[in-house]
Amino acid sequence: MAIREIHKYPDPVLKEKAREVTDFNGSLQKLIDDMIETMYAAPGIGLAANQVGELLRVIVVDISTKENKHPLIVLVNPEIVQTEGRIDSEEGCLSVPGYVSTIKRAERVFVKGLDREGNPVEIEAEGLLSRALQHEIDHLNGILFVDRLSPIKREFFKKRYLKKMKAQK
Ligand code: NI
Repeated sequence: MAIREIHKYPDPVLKEKAREVTDFNGSLQKLIDDMIETMYAAPGIGLAANQVGELLRVIVVDISTKENKHPLIVLVNPEIVQTEGRIDSEEGCLSVPGYVSTIKRAERVFVKGLDREGNPVEIEAEGLLSRALQHEIDHLNGILFVDRLSPIKREFFKKRYLKKMKAQK
């Protein structure tokens, strides 16, 4: 296992659509292990393959805290098949460090996908898990949470963020 570099906005790989996984071979298993290690090391509650520069439809999510343990979720070719409700909540992203904003998303989701061996998986989620799944699946479609800001807020974000990045160089 290895910790991979997390690609940061405005890296173009984050705008790319990831490809369906068809081969559950050793290199996929290695990628998944690396993603898990990279997510925990960050630390973050989710990671999509695009963020480590691999354009494959793979996400890992673990919303555990010290007090509240949850299972680690590995999903290959995940798909949101049903949503319910709308809710505002604060969000951030390992690829957009130092920035959080309120984003409107579905309250509950029903997600289908495959586990790391290729067996079908179904997940019904609400709360933080629902939000994390939607955020990571967005990544696979080349969408960042800042792309879901209103146009005015997004322009404001871009200006401020790129200025900050320049200042850090
Ligand atoms: Ni993210």
